[in-house]
Amino acid sequence: MPEPSVSHGWNGRAPAGRVAYVDGRYIPHGRAAVHIEDRGLQFGDAIYEVCGIVAGGLRDEDEHLDRLARSLGEIGIAMPMPRNVLRLVMRELVRRNRIRTGLLYLQVTRGAARRDHPIPNPASRPTLILTVREMDAAALERRRDEGIAVVTRPDERWARCDIKTTQLLPNLLAKTSARKAGAYEAWLVDEDGFVTEGTSTNAWIVDTAGRLTTRNLSHEILPGVTRRVILEAAAEAQLPVSEHRFTPSDALAAREAFISSATGVVPVTSIDGKTIGEGRPGPVTRRVQELYAHRSASSASEVSR
Ligand code: PDD
Repeated sequence: MPEPSVSHGWNGRAPAGRVAYVDGRYIPHGRAAVHIEDRGLQFGDAIYEVCGIVAGGLRDEDEHLDRLARSLGEIGIAMPMPRNVLRLVMRELVRRNRIRTGLLYLQVTRGAARRDHPIPNPASRPTLILTVREMDAAALERRRDEGIAVVTRPDERWARCDIKTTQLLPNLLAKTSARKAGAYEAWLVDEDGFVTEGTSTNAWIVDTAGRLTTRNLSHEILPGVTRRVILEAAAEAQLPVSEHRFTPSDALAAREAFISSATGVVPVTSIDGKTIGEGRPGPVTRRVQELYAHRSASSASEVSR
């Protein structure tokens, strides 16, 4: 049965039966909505998380929930429900939508209140939104296999990129500019000429000494869950790692490069149109992909069906 017509501008394809979760209710995706004065909508006063779904299980679920709690704490929004209840809701949504390979999106806004800049006191009730979607496993596999091109763009974001807020306009503009240039991702470059991260991924190189290198944690980058998992797995596998910043020229001189995010580890084969290493995914990137796949197969919490 087609979903009822909607009045709030959703123009994506929603498979029949797709279900979202908004404020305590499972609801058909095409009809799911928040209040027009929700502060997430009005101000981007909201935190989000994206968690991979692998073989029907949530990848690195606890790490994502830890980061959610931290981001919310940094801007003073309360957890919308106890963590164990949230975990149940997340799993139930994956189950109801019968997703095997995909992404879970979770957003907590500060809630609906009269539009006014100061944060409401007493606090408004946070809004919780959850959606899941299937991903094209073959297209993902192809990207992981063949690699992608990146371009560099100035990092024009705010000074607290460690907080996962929904205020993503600079990211969206840089990503769009990359796509127009025929690249998959943009690597953002700070005022000192160093790469911070991608618009929705962490950035890595294998430097000339063969060390797996990614920028150190600070307010300038998101502490990627995948980044952390890779660093732990690499240390266990005794791969040399180094957490420090690098420039686009370091990246061009590097043996290999890749990006990491909830959608996995994807080789980078060129930067700004110039080939990296041999212009194809290298052995260290392949090893990291294997380590990550292995680790996430064991960490994905199974969703009972
Ligand atoms: N992006 N850096 C930025 C700016 C990000 O937005 C993300 C995640 C990452 C990688 O983090 P993780 O490994 O925890 O996914 C790094 C998500 C996927 C998104 O915005 O859709």
